Amino acid sequence: MCGIVGYVGEKQAAPILLDGLKRLEYRGYDSAGIAIHNCRHTSLIKTEGKIKVLEEKLGGAYPEGGVGIGHTRWATHGKPSDVNAHPHTDCTGDFIVVHNGIIENYQELKEWLQSEGHVFKSETDTEVVPHLIEHYYDGDLFEALKKTISRLEGSFALGVISRREPGTIVAARKSSPLIAGLGEGENFIASDIPAILQHTRRVYILEDGEMVKITKDKVEVTDFTGNPVAKPVFEVKWDAVAAEKGGYPHFMLKEIHEQPKAFKDTMAGRIFLEKCEIKLDDVHLGRDYLQSIKKIFIVACGTAYHAGMVGKYIIEKLTRIPVEVDIASEFRYRDPMIDKNTMVIIISQSGETADTLAALRESRKLGARVLAITNVVGSSVSREADDIIYTWAGPEIAVASTKAYSTQLIALDLIALYIAKTIGTISEDTIREIATAMKKLPEQAKTILDSVDTLKTLGRKLSEHQDVFYIGRGLDYPLSLEGALKLKEISYIHAEAYAAGELKHGTLALIEEGVPVIAPVTQEHLFEKTLSNIKEVKARDGYVIAIANEGNEEIKKSVDDVIYIPKTHPLLSPILTVIPMQLLAYYAAVARGCDVDKPRNLAKSVTVE
Ligand code: M6R
Repeated sequence: MCGIVGYVGEKQAAPILLDGLKRLEYRGYDSAGIAIHNCRHTSLIKTEGKIKVLEEKLGGAYPEGGVGIGHTRWATHGKPSDVNAHPHTDCTGDFIVVHNGIIENYQELKEWLQSEGHVFKSETDTEVVPHLIEHYYDGDLFEALKKTISRLEGSFALGVISRREPGTIVAARKSSPLIAGLGEGENFIASDIPAILQHTRRVYILEDGEMVKITKDKVEVTDFTGNPVAKPVFEVKWDAVAAEKGGYPHFMLKEIHEQPKAFKDTMAGRIFLEKCEIKLDDVHLGRDYLQSIKKIFIVACGTAYHAGMVGKYIIEKLTRIPVEVDIASEFRYRDPMIDKNTMVIIISQSGETADTLAALRESRKLGARVLAITNVVGSSVSREADDIIYTWAGPEIAVASTKAYSTQLIALDLIALYIAKTIGTISEDTIREIATAMKKLPEQAKTILDSVDTLKTLGRKLSEHQDVFYIGRGLDYPLSLEGALKLKEISYIHAEAYAAGELKHGTLALIEEGVPVIAPVTQEHLFEKTLSNIKEVKARDGYVIAIANEGNEEIKKSVDDVIYIPKTHPLLSPILTVIPMQLLAYYAAVARGCDVDKPRNLAKSVTVE
C-alpha cells in the first residue's frame, strides 16, 4: 500500500523522510520519491524500485531543506515506473503532491484540465491533483486544496507542498488514513504511525472530511469547509512492531479488518447505479466477442481457485455461459480444449504464481482471450493478460489470503454483471438489485467485524480439536472449501469441506460425538436441504456451528451455535460469510500458539511449480 511522510521543522527533512519511508517498507511498494524545499529551490527525486535505489540516485548527497514530502507507491493507475512514482507536480512545478487512495473521476478531470491547457506526464490518477491546485491557486495553498478536493470523487490522503508558500504542508483525508505528528519546533504528516514514531508519540488522527495545515510551530485542523476542528491528542503507546500492524497483533487480523475499505476500493468508479452500468477500465470485451463465447474457463490456485468456484456459480447464473473451473497446475498439463470461442479468466492475488502464469500463457497460445483478476499492478499476470480487473485490495502481507479473496469475489461479480449486461441475459432491474446490494457490503462487513466476541470463543473451542468439517450447498459449498483451507493453513487443524449432500456418501462415517461441523446456511432456497444434512450430523452427536442470515430463527433449534451475518443478495453472501470463517481460523490458530502470519512450510507467493 502507498505510504506518505511529510516533515516541516528545523532539521534536514530528507533523512527524516527516507527513514520514515523505510519504516513503511513492510507494507510493500514498487516506487519511491521525495520532494524537498529550501528557501532557494525545490528538489524532486523519484524512482521505480526500492528506497535503496532512490538513495543510490541521490548519490549520498541529500538535498538540503527543512520542508518535504515523501512517498512509497504501490501501483494502481499506471504501471510502476519513474514517471508514475510520486510526488507529482503541476505544469509549473510549483505544486507538489503525494497521494494515497484512488481518484475515481480522474479521467473526466484530466480531460477537462487538458482542455484548459494542462500537460500531463504520468498515467496516474494522482496527477490531476497538482494541476487542479495550480488551477485554483490564488495566493492561498490551503484554499486551493479545499477547492481541489471539492472536485474529487474517491478516496484520498493528500500531502501538498509549494515553493510559493515555503514552510507549510497542507493535507487532507477522505477514506484513506492520515495523521499529523506533533513535535517541538517540528511537525509531521504521515499515512501511518510507524513512519514518525521515532520522532513523536503525540498525534492527531484525522477523520474523513478533515484537512490540516502544518508549519514548524503550528498544526491547524479544519473540516473540508474550513471550520476549525478541536482534535484530541492521541498518545501512541504501541512499540514499533505493533505500530506496523496498526495496533493489531498480526497482519492477518489487520487485513481481515481492512476488508470494508478494500470492498469500497474494488468497487470504486466501477458501478453506476443511475445508468445501470458497470465500467471496467482495463476490460475491452465487445458484444460480438462475448456473444461468440461458448465456454469460460476460470484457472487459479489455492484461495484464488476457491474464488473461481464461487465465480462459476455467479457467471453461469447471470450469463448462461458454461464455466469450468480448473486448478492451474492441472490445467496446464491436461490438454484443455480451448479455441478462440473460449474465454479464460485467470485469478491471482500476486500475479506471479508459476502455475497460474503458465496456464495464462498456454491459454493465449491456444487462441483464447485471457482476462486476469489480480491485486498487483505490473505483475507478470497483469502484463501478459488481454484484459485486467485489479482488485485494489492493497498489499496482503499475511500468507493466508483474506481481503484478496473477498475482493476477488467482488471482481467476479463485476465481470458477471458486465458480461450479462453486454449480451443481454440480465434485466436492468436485476443489475440494479445486485449492484445496490454490493454497495452495502462495506458497511455490512463492518458490522460483522464490530462484534467478534462469539467468534473468539468459538475459535478457541475449535483449537482443541484435531478434525473439523465444513458443509454447504450452492454458494455455501465453495465458500466452505475456503473456510477449511483457512483453518488448516494457519492452525494446522485437519479441516475438510464437502457439498452438504455428499456427506452421507462416505464422510458421515467420521462424525462422532463432539466432532465440529461448520455449516453456512445462507442460501435460503437450499435451507431445508442443508438443514436435513445438519440433522444427520446432530443424530451422530456432532457439534454444529451454523453461519446464518440475520433473522433465521429456525436454525437455532437444530444446531449448537449460530453466527449471524447481515443479509445480502444470495449471490453476494460468500463475500460476507467468509469473514467469520477467517476469524474462526484466526482465533483457533492464536489459541494454538501458531505463527499466524507465516505458517510453517508455506510462502506468500509460489513462483515455482
Ligand atoms: O497469488 P495467488 O493468488 O496466485 O496465490 C495462490 C495461492 O498460492 C494462495 O491463494 C494460497 O492458497 C494462500 N496461502 C491461501 O491463503
